[in-house]
Amino acid sequence: MKTALVTGGAHRIGQQICRSLHQAGFNLIIHYRTSKSAAKSLADELNQIRSNSAKTIAAELANLDDIEQLCQTITNLDVLVNNASIFYPTPIADITPATYQTMMNTNLMGPLFLSINLQLQLEASHGCIINIVDIHADRPLKNHSLYNISKAAIGMMTKTLAKDLSPNIRVNGVAPGSILWPENDAELTQAQKQSMLKKIALNKQGSATDIADTVVFLANSNYITGQIIAVDGGRSLNQ
Ligand SMILES: NC(=O)c1ccc[n+]([C@@H]2O[C@H](COP(=O)([O-])OP(=O)(O)OC[C@H]3O[C@@H](n4cnc5c(N)ncnc54)[C@H](OP(=O)(O)O)[C@@H]3O)[C@@H](O)[C@H]2O)c1
Repeated sequence: MKTALVTGGAHRIGQQICRSLHQAGFNLIIHYRTSKSAAKSLADELNQIRSNSAKTIAAELANLDDIEQLCQTITNLDVLVNNASIFYPTPIADITPATYQTMMNTNLMGPLFLSINLQLQLEASHGCIINIVDIHADRPLKNHSLYNISKAAIGMMTKTLAKDLSPNIRVNGVAPGSILWPENDAELTQAQKQSMLKKIALNKQGSATDIADTVVFLANSNYITGQIIAVDGGRSLNQ
């Protein structure tokens, strides 16, 4: 039985990635930061389907000590999915060293040091890393420079680690377009949502399942590394 670690696996896209990998036969380590009860109830649900197939682990991924502690608890691993991230506007005038650090530590440092600290386990299993990037890694979203920069960096991290961790570890990415509307600080108005939908060739948002299916495809592939697959309904055609 293969094992996958999914960061930020309690809600939204991460939760669907956990469900789809589990359905594809993987055992799950569901990482969470604050969403303990959602992570536990997902693990309970998956364990009802297959006993001892899911467990949870907590870590603040913007903190290197937490990352090290998390990695020390993992002995066998086949797939690391770097899904957890933060997203909100950062107009240039609001950027400070602190806002920069928060975005970069969460969206880049966490995935990088998880990959480095889990290298031995992934080499032993000839496993893979799948980074959840964003189509805005290539074409920036206005007023979101820190997020854009962090996603461009994890896009390059995908390619550079594919080279440096070869031949025993494959490293790929999935770049979602508009899948689930942002919440809280990043919430959009109806007008902004309509204007975004108009730019998508397929005229609709994708679903978390569209992203999860691509993660499962990459997890099961043998001969793909260093690639980032856009799952965006053709949004990048009109960016
Ligand atoms: N939603 C979209 O349409 C869309 C579009 C393009 C790209 N993406 C990418 O797809 C991925 C999933 O998107 P999403 O919208 O489902 O994500 P999300 O709900 O905004 O966040 C996923 C999880 O990340 C975790 N997280 C945030 N900061 C963390 C930290 N410092 N340490 C540990 N965990 C942390 C949170 O876990 P807790 O709840 O446990 O705190 C959160 O539940 C992200 O990489 C995102 O950039 C999404």
